[in-house]
Amino acid sequence: MTATDIRVVMDPAAEVARMLVDVACAGGQIALSGGSTPQRAYEIASESDADLSAATLWLGDERMVAPDDERSNLRMVRTALTDRLPEERRPRLMAVDTALGPDAAATAYESLLWETIGRHPRLDLALMGLGPDGHTASLFPGQPALAESHRSVIGVAQAGMEPLVARVTLTLPLFNRAREVVFLVAGADKAAAVARVFGTPPDETAPAARVRPGAGKLMLVLDEPAAAELGL
Ligand code: 6PG
Repeated sequence: MTATDIRVVMDPAAEVARMLVDVACAGGQIALSGGSTPQRAYEIASESDADLSAATLWLGDERMVAPDDERSNLRMVRTALTDRLPEERRPRLMAVDTALGPDAAATAYESLLWETIGRHPRLDLALMGLGPDGHTASLFPGQPALAESHRSVIGVAQAGMEPLVARVTLTLPLFNRAREVVFLVAGADKAAAVARVFGTPPDETAPAARVRPGAGKLMLVLDEPAAAELGL
């Protein structure tokens, strides 16, 4: 059972930004969460004067929209992080080909992972978000994606929450092989999900509760409002 390092801090984004920069400076393979919570962490990381060019950034999941669509996670990461860095210090950012359908895009992204890291890819860091329904990446409650036990990337025909577009998501086998998984969670609206996923015992119907890196570290970095129902 993975022990979770739980850190309740005033500024979770700043804490996670430091971790992101450290792993990136070491040339890590890093999966980034999408959505809104991590944006400030990426902006803080972009203010670092560190050289992140040895790192490779992956998208933990992607919405099947055009790269310039405001719902695109690629666009969010470019805007908050990579485009803010001078080119010589910029990490590689691996885009999902959203011009394809979700299944074809997932197959292509998995091939990119294999070419870059190898056939049994192991991430150095996976930054994860948490939805109020307990989803993480695009692993939504009750969906077939949760049963995937071999592939590293799969398509999701219908998202379980807004934006209700098809997705591509990294899978539990890939996340659970990571050297370190860090959940960044903020806000009172996530308190119930945090208690379900990180409480004792965890509610296994919540997809995020299935992210337990067997040989890696699991960390939860959150603010007081998000920790309110954890009973710490
Ligand atoms: C996405 C994310 C998703 C996100 C949670 C929390 O593409 O939407 O990867 O899993 O992390 O939905 O999103 P917020 O941080 O916006 O609450």
